[in-house]
Amino acid sequence: MTSSGRTVIDEVKDRLDIVELVGSKVELRRAGKHLKGLCPFHQEKTPSFVVFPERGSYHCFGCGKSGDVISFLMDTENIEFKDALRQLAERAGVSYEQPKPAQPEDDAERRKLHEINRLAARFYNHLLLNSPEAEAARKYLEGRGVERASWELWMLGYAPDSWDTTLKFLKGRGYAPQDILVAGLAVERAGGGHYDRFRKRITFPIRDRDGNYVALGGRAMGDDTPKYLNSPESPVFVKGAHLYGLDLAQGAIKTQNRAVVVEGYIDAVAAHAHGFENVVATLGTALTPAHVRTLSKLTRYVCLALDADAAGDTAAMRGWEVLRDSAQRRKMEIRSRGRLVSSGSELELTVRIARLPRGEDPDTLIRKSPDTWRDLVENARTVVDHFFTVVRETADLSTPAGRTQAVEELAPVVADLGNPIERAHYEAELARLVGIDEHEIHGVVRSRRGKRGREEAQNFSVISQVTPEELALALLLKHPRLLPSVPPDFMLGLERSQDRELYERMREIGSELTADRLLSTVDDTLKGSAASLVELTQSQPELLSTEQPIELERRLRTIRMRRLKEQINQHSLLLKEAMNAGDEAGVRALLEIVPVLAGEVRELDPPRSPYFKDSREK
Ligand code: UTP
Ligand code: MN
Repeated sequence: MTSSGRTVIDEVKDRLDIVELVGSKVELRRAGKHLKGLCPFHQEKTPSFVVFPERGSYHCFGCGKSGDVISFLMDTENIEFKDALRQLAERAGVSYEQPKPAQPEDDAERRKLHEINRLAARFYNHLLLNSPEAEAARKYLEGRGVERASWELWMLGYAPDSWDTTLKFLKGRGYAPQDILVAGLAVERAGGGHYDRFRKRITFPIRDRDGNYVALGGRAMGDDTPKYLNSPESPVFVKGAHLYGLDLAQGAIKTQNRAVVVEGYIDAVAAHAHGFENVVATLGTALTPAHVRTLSKLTRYVCLALDADAAGDTAAMRGWEVLRDSAQRRKMEIRSRGRLVSSGSELELTVRIARLPRGEDPDTLIRKSPDTWRDLVENARTVVDHFFTVVRETADLSTPAGRTQAVEELAPVVADLGNPIERAHYEAELARLVGIDEHEIHGVVRSRRGKRGREEAQNFSVISQVTPEELALALLLKHPRLLPSVPPDFMLGLERSQDRELYERMREIGSELTADRLLSTVDDTLKGSAASLVELTQSQPELLSTEQPIELERRLRTIRMRRLKEQINQHSLLLKEAMNAGDEAGVRALLEIVPVLAGEVRELDPPRSPYFKDSREK
C-alpha cells in the first residue's frame, strides 16, 4: 500500500516463509524458482498446486485457488482472518495486540439476544416433551414421521396457545419486555404492552453456525395462516444470511465436500434423520450472495433441491441468477473422452440443481424413498442444463413465437458462460432445441457478449503502484451504491487476504458505507490498508469520477485480465518443466488447458492479444 507505512500484515508476510507454511501441510517439490505439490483444496493425482516463494503466494491450476500465507491458513484450518493473522504473528514473532472488540456493548447485546432465544427454545422444547397441552403437537409431529430423536437434535418445541406465557417466563428470568421484543419473541400491542409472538405453533429454533440461538420458526398445526411464522430480523438474525441446520451440517458438508440446500425446515429435519447430514435450508428466501459466501467457505459443491413447481416457474428461475453467475462465469472444466482432465476456476462454488418430482418435496421424498433422493442429488444438473430443461418443458416450440422466446431466454444464459468450450456445446444444444442453424445461434450469443467484450478490452492501463484490486475497492468506497452490482465471485478472485477482508467489511456496512465508517469498523490490523484506500479516493478524483457501474465492471475485468496473464505465464513455466522432465501425462494435461486460456484472452482482448492468434479471424 502507498502511504501508511508497514502493517502487521506486511510484517507477517515478510517474515514467514510461505514454503515452510504450505510445506507443513503439502509435500512440495522444488521446480526451478517455484515449488509444486498436490493441491490441498481439491482431489488430484498429479500436482498442479504451485507455490511462488518470491511473491509469497500460491496458485492451483486445477481448482484455481490462490492466495497468501494468511488465506492459506484460513482455508486449511477454516478459521477467520483475525485468528489466522494472530497465529501467524505469533509464529513470526511480530507483536500484535489483540484489538479490543470494537463495541463491547454490541457484543453484550448479541449475547443477550442469543440467550433469550435459547431460553425460549428450551422452554418450548420442555413443553413439547412434557406438557399435556402439547398433546396435539406431539401427535402432529409423530403423524409427519418426525421422531423423538429429531425433536432433541433440533430442539423442536411447542409454543402454547396463550398471549403471555412466554413473556411471563422470560420476565421471570429477568428480561425486560423491550429485550424480548427485540429478540422477536413478543409483539407490541397497538394500545401499548406486548403479547407472545408464537402461539399454538410447533417451534423450530434457528441457530447460527456456532450454535447460537438467533431466531425461531413456528409452524401452525392445522390450516392456520400463515403456515410458518418466523422471528423478525434482529441484530442477531438476518433472514437472507442464515441457513437452517448449518451448525449441524457443517461437518458433513466439509467431509463430503458438498452441501445440499432445501427450502423448508421440515425438509432439513427429515434429511438429517435419514442420514443426509449435509443438508441445510434457506429461511423463506432464495439463495443469496451471503449464503454463497458462507457455503463457499465449507465446500466447492452446492446442490439446490427445488420442487418441480418453483423450478418450472420462470420467475423463480430469475431468483437463482446470482447463483448461476457465481457458479458459471469462470468455471473451466476440460473433459477428454468423458474423463475430467483438468478443471480451472476462479471460483469456489459449483452449483447444481436437483429437481424434485412433481408434487414431492424433500421431506416426503426422503421418507418415501431415500434412494430416489440420493440419486436425484447425485445426478443433479448444472444450472444451464436446468434452464434448458425448464424451457423445453414450458415453451411451445411448435410456434415461431415459442421458439423465439426460447432463444431469448437461453441465449443470455449461454452468453454468460465464461468457458468457450462449454459455450459452444450449449450453442449447439440451443440450435438443436429450436431447429435453427448453429451459426445463427452463435451470432445471437456473440452479440450478447459483444458489448461486454468491448468494455473488457478497454481501460487496460492502470496507474503504477496501485493495483486494480485497490482501484476497484476505492471505487466502491466512493460509490457504495455500486456494491450490489459486484459479482459474487469478485472476492474469491482477490489474492491478498487484506483486500478480501476490507471488501467483506465494506459489504457488511453496505449502502451506509463512508470512509469514516470503514475506518472505525476495521480492526487495527486493517487500518493501514483502509487508510490507503481512503487516500486513493481523495488523490485520484479523476479516476474515480464516474458513478456508472460500467466503470466498476472495467476495474473488475482488469483484475480478471491480469490474473489471466499471470496464469498464462505460470502455465508456460509448468509446461516447459513438464517437457524437460519428460512428463508426458503432465504435458498432455497442460496442453489441453491452452485453448481455454486462449479463449479467455480472446474474449477479454480480441484484437491485441500478444499471446495467441485468433484462428477465427483473418
Ligand atoms: P413450504 O410451504 O414449502 O413448506 O415452505 P414446507 O417446508 O414444505 O412445510 P410443510 O412440509 O408444509 O410443513 C418452505 C419454507 O418457506 C418458509 C419456511 O421457511 C418454510 O420452511 N415459509 C413458508 C414461510 O416463512 N412462511 C410461510 O407461510 C410458508
Ligand atoms: Mn413439506
